[in-house]
Amino acid sequence: MRTKISMITTLCMAATIDAFPGMGNTLQALSSIVKRQEIPKTELLADLKILPDSELTPVGKAIKAILQINRTAGPPQDFDTVYTVPGPLGSPECKAETCCMWKYVADEMATVFKGPSGRCTDLARGVVRLGFHDAGTWSKTAGGGGADGSFILAQEIMRPDNRGLENITNVMEDWYNKWHKHGAGMADLIQMGATIAAVSCPLGPRIRSFVGRNDSSIPSPEGRLPETNQDAEALIALFEDKTIVQGELISLLGAHTVSQQRFEDPSRAGDPQDSTPGVWDVKFYPETTSDHTPQRVFKFKSDVTMAEHPRSQELWTLFSDPERGPGAWAQVTYIRLSILGVEHINNLVECTGVLPLRVSNFTSTDETELESFLESKSAPMSEEAVKLLEGEVL
Ligand code: HEM
Ligand SMILES: *[C@@H]1O[C@H](CO)[C@@H](O)[C@H](O)[C@H]1NC(C)=O
Ligand SMILES: *[C@@H]1O[C@H](CO)[C@@H](O)[C@H](O)[C@H]1NC(C)=O
Ligand SMILES: *[C@@H]1O[C@H](CO)[C@@H](O)[C@H](O)[C@H]1NC(C)=O
Ligand SMILES: *[C@@H]1O[C@H](CO)[C@@H](O)[C@H](O)[C@H]1NC(C)=O
Repeated sequence: MRTKISMITTLCMAATIDAFPGMGNTLQALSSIVKRQEIPKTELLADLKILPDSELTPVGKAIKAILQINRTAGPPQDFDTVYTVPGPLGSPECKAETCCMWKYVADEMATVFKGPSGRCTDLARGVVRLGFHDAGTWSKTAGGGGADGSFILAQEIMRPDNRGLENITNVMEDWYNKWHKHGAGMADLIQMGATIAAVSCPLGPRIRSFVGRNDSSIPSPEGRLPETNQDAEALIALFEDKTIVQGELISLLGAHTVSQQRFEDPSRAGDPQDSTPGVWDVKFYPETTSDHTPQRVFKFKSDVTMAEHPRSQELWTLFSDPERGPGAWAQVTYIRLSILGVEHINNLVECTGVLPLRVSNFTSTDETELESFLESKSAPMSEEAVKLLEGEVL
């Protein structure tokens, strides 16, 4: 009881002093929960582990602070910075600035990430998951893998882990063919794609985004991605081996707030993981633990297991709060995930300004239709499910 009260006090104090509701206060609470529960401390990565502060670039400093959950020194989201191109694609002015070409990439990607309903699309969700499946093959103990583009360059789409990512793989190949000659690498296209996609979902985070990763066409080791039938301890151990601690894993699972599964149960293909697919709210959290969700809401066994784990409870509740939860995914962990396996993090360049601006509130125009879909009998890829996938109005 005592710990519960002290957590609430921490949260309230944080809330009153914070300029970005839903952002810093979550971080503070998270960092205190992580400390109190003796969840292993957040770790630094690669060159940031060894370089003295005096040798860090501004980007190196920022990422170091982000990884250490120091929000004064490294806020993980940026809602305001807008990059303006100095000239047309291919012009000398544009070539002179790393982010210029990325602005053109971001604008093109954004057109297919948001549908007419304002919700984000299948391709947007696909690239977020792709970002995870490219980078998440890294292991701190065994090495190999990481955010290196090998998912596409070494055709990892053939693996069962990656079922469902076929369409985004094809689109990503087209993008690479178009943008590589302007200097874009595959690893960066994937990770920039993921953050551009996240912010294209209404209420989605505007995650600080970096470029400059090296590509690799060496296949990443197999068996490094999670499966829905693993128990919580196995999942926690798997992610800890990627320096992602339990609290961070829980924040990352929040990505399932936008998704609609296809292959986990093909007889229910198109069924969403919460009642608002394509919207980056926090409903995924309370709905995963509720017995009273609409019948179409399809819960992954792994999400339920993680939610029920004793050390998850407080964070699951924290992330369920619409005031505090939404930024959580971004804040803590996507940046870490997106640089796993990168050797010289200190050499990356920040291009957050090229991202679309965040849509901070969203009211759907087809609430009634959505509700009746969610209560309808599951039919694989029903007409409504397909419209939802495409971000169309029901
Ligand atoms: C315990 C860990 C995880 C497991 C077992 C898991 C499993 C799954 C499964 C089975 C699907 C449905 C695929 C399909 O049937 O089409 C899915 C979708 C998705 N996952 Fe996860 N996932 C995990 C963690 C994550 C993380 C860390 C992210 C964050 C980046 C993520 C992002 C997504 C997204 C965005 C989708 C939707 C993809 C789409 O709609 O095409 N997942 N996940
Ligand atoms: C956060 O970073 C600032 C600036 O680098 C530093 O002065 C401060 O000690 C850090 N705070 C924590 C809790 O590490
Ligand atoms: C891929 O796109 C096609 C055409 O839009 C669609 O019918 C199919 O369901 C998609 N498949 C996957 C696995 O995303
Ligand atoms: C990419 O590889 C080159 C050559 O090994 C290295 O100098 C550079 O620092 C690497 N970049 C990153 C971001 O790790
Ligand atoms: C949308 O967000 C803006 C700025 O955050 C706020 O002023 C406005 O009241 C919100 N609108 C609705 C309908 O919630």
